[in-house]
Amino acid sequence: MNNQVNQLKLADGQSMPQEGFGLYKITDQATITSSIKYAYDAGYRLFDTAQLYKNEAEVGTALKELGLPRQDLFITTKVSEPNQGFKQTIASVKDSLHKLKLDYVNLLLIHWPIERAFFDTWAAFEELKKQGLTRSIGVSNYQMIHLQYLATQAHEMPVVNQVELHPRLNQKPLIKFDRKHGIVTQACSPLGRGTILNNEVLKKIATAHHKSPAQVVLRWHLQNGVAFIPKSVHEARIKQNINIYDFTLSDQEMAAIDALHDFTRVSKEPALVYEYNLKY
Ligand code: A2P
Repeated sequence: MNNQVNQLKLADGQSMPQEGFGLYKITDQATITSSIKYAYDAGYRLFDTAQLYKNEAEVGTALKELGLPRQDLFITTKVSEPNQGFKQTIASVKDSLHKLKLDYVNLLLIHWPIERAFFDTWAAFEELKKQGLTRSIGVSNYQMIHLQYLATQAHEMPVVNQVELHPRLNQKPLIKFDRKHGIVTQACSPLGRGTILNNEVLKKIATAHHKSPAQVVLRWHLQNGVAFIPKSVHEARIKQNINIYDFTLSDQEMAAIDALHDFTRVSKEPALVYEYNLKY
């Protein structure tokens, strides 16, 4: 199953699975362990956590208990707003690694851009990469303006930008910008946290392919060439969400899903988080 997930080449030479598994809002040990087991068995190799999710220790315990081979895994974590700043970032990432029981993560992301520590946090990321504590460095929730601003002082640019991305917020201009600058766009909340799955257009396309609306949305992400990390705690859905490699959406179907864009966010507005220096 695993070989069905494409590997994307990052600008720093590392590879990242195009499809991964999101661990947002899963906190109890039993559910974390069972979800990671279902996901690994189904073929997921990328596991995405964050300091904010308060589950790094549980994820670390699950990876250990399940005995998953480190070299097969692609682990992402993200630095939260209160931990931003040069020294705080370095210390907090060491703490994350301790909780995750890992020597390094594959990808470290700044969770949200904030004005207070905009360049210092990135300088810490460059340092952490030099020290081998992360293989790749990237950002999350960065808009074009944040990436352009970062470029004025960065020694190296992010290789991944993880943003809210689903049919109701399709981020076309940002995807284009990221691609032009060698940055892989990774969709978080790729299913709009489940809020879009009752949509009639999606249901009709799903019926035509004998698939579910969630599978149609994930296939749309795949054909758009972005990375994506659906989250579920249910075995059947975890399996379903990776069973998307045996059908193709037509150009008309892709366009019909593109047309669902209506600027609806399920998470926060990055420009405001930047201004408030916290996820409000
Ligand atoms: P659950 O964890 O109970 O399965 P996103 O990945 O956009 O954050 O969306 C995650 C939400 O969508 C969760 O509430 C999850 O619920 C739900 N979900 C995930 N996969 C499916 C699926 N295949 N069908 C229906 N709902 C799903």
